[in-house]
Amino acid sequence: MKIIIINGPNLNLLGKREPEVYGDTTFDDYFSKLQFKFKEVQLEYFQSNVEGELIGKLQEAGFSHDGIVLNAAAYTHTSVGIGDAVKAIETPVVEVHISNTFSREDFRHISYISPAAKGVILGFGLQSYDLAIQSFLE
Ligand code: DQA
Repeated sequence: MKIIIINGPNLNLLGKREPEVYGDTTFDDYFSKLQFKFKEVQLEYFQSNVEGELIGKLQEAGFSHDGIVLNAAAYTHTSVGIGDAVKAIETPVVEVHISNTFSREDFRHISYISPAAKGVILGFGLQSYDLAIQSFLE
């Protein structure tokens, strides 16, 4: 089972960025825990602050991997291009968010990804990623 986590803009700053919203753990530390927990999964991680790079990675993984866990961060609410990429690929995508976007500003209630996603997991902190990986295993 080959699964890739794709993180969008500003998620490279996890641990430092608005810790009251996103927690104080870096994604690298969390990713090591995920690798330890899901030893049977070939787990990869990609992060970019650039919309086109995220689309490129979705296209690449979208025909070779068994699952994609996507947190497109702010692009979730703006990017028709990322939404179209999710529609275009074969690999199922689970959309995740660390925070509960529905308890935040109105602009975060819109997602260009959800209509094409297999499912959406949000509001569980970093555990949202864990739950998304589990969803591919069950
Ligand atoms: C986020 C929620 C988005 O609204 C925000 O722009 C992010 C992170 C989350 O994981 O909670 O950067 O996707």
